[in-house]
Amino acid sequence: MDRRQLLKGALVLATAAAEPLRAARPGPATLRDRAARKGLTFGSAVASYQLTGARDYAAILAREAGMLVAEYEMKRDAVQPEANRYDFSGADRIVAFAAANQMAVRGHTLCWYAANPPWLEADLTGPGLTTDRKRMYLREHVRTMLTRYRGRIPEWDVVNEPVDPTQGRPDGMRAKNVWSQALGEQYIDLAFHEARAADPHARLFLNEYGIEAATVPNERKRTAILKLLDRLKGRGVPVDGFGIQAHMRPYKDAFDDEVFARFLDQLRGYGLRISITEMDFSDRGGALDPARRDADMATAARRFLDVALACPATRTVMAWGMCDRYSWLSSPKASDGWPGGQLARVLPLDGALRRKPLYDAIGAAFDAAAPRRTA
Ligand code: XIL
Repeated sequence: MDRRQLLKGALVLATAAAEPLRAARPGPATLRDRAARKGLTFGSAVASYQLTGARDYAAILAREAGMLVAEYEMKRDAVQPEANRYDFSGADRIVAFAAANQMAVRGHTLCWYAANPPWLEADLTGPGLTTDRKRMYLREHVRTMLTRYRGRIPEWDVVNEPVDPTQGRPDGMRAKNVWSQALGEQYIDLAFHEARAADPHARLFLNEYGIEAATVPNERKRTAILKLLDRLKGRGVPVDGFGIQAHMRPYKDAFDDEVFARFLDQLRGYGLRISITEMDFSDRGGALDPARRDADMATAARRFLDVALACPATRTVMAWGMCDRYSWLSSPKASDGWPGGQLARVLPLDGALRRKPLYDAIGAAFDAAAPRRTA
């Protein structure tokens, strides 16, 4: 039945019985549906307390998101707070909620310079451990996570934020990183090989931020990433995908369609899938009038997504939360916070769960995208 027939049917029914009709009338398509129609996946970051404490929000997530990612509950400090104590409670709640609502899950993140538990940092940086033991610390964690969620997490950020050309290394790799300090660049090889062995069906990603804009620092990061990919591919490291975090700052960083499109094309040239993994649009630096900022963020999102989705390798778009109430940029600690307790306006829904122009821009970008072939 096409839409016109559906509506016609609805009209006939309307005169007969008002009540059931309201349920029968097709609601506006959700972002989840609009992405899925094109063979794309749209999803959101979440924390488990948001699923149990805020039923209205949980219902919105179930409708709007086809995929969830834990904002922090799969990071190592959350799952292994002590050497001999694991805590999967938050991660498991998210995975169970996703399963109950036919949503997929992205795994984030196995190996990162940040969010390591203090005991691990101390061991890795101290003199007491052999290199082999340090390698085991990484391998065991990767194996534990991929084994526990095998078959339920199709895509994992194996290594997060490996480059930072401002830290002085000629190769542009992040220097302040406990893993590279302990194991050298081989930590990346080790993590990917272990992940592949633990779940051969999972797609394995490198994930990076500050890589989207037409600025000199972003360009240096792109260069460092492409050189890293050359080395990894040369060594036969099983990298399947590249995650573009997309913590966008439209008032601070210039964006250029061609610059970004070229980078996506280069990633695609390595045979990689591309996921937009942590999308939000910081309104820091904008006008005091929230309507102005909302319009600007929507424009920036449409422009960014049009380029991202024009690349056939892009399959997934994850927002870093669905509503401003839960954005990391609204936290009092975040430097992006607005004065006077105002929330940052950076995600598709505002603090009261109302749709903003950003929501419509994301939907319109999905509507305009070319359909993906499956696989
Ligand atoms: C952030 C979360 O949003 C915060 O709640 C947490 O306290 C710190 O981490 N890059 C990443 C994400 O890969 O994991 C980070 O998430 C944001 C930057």
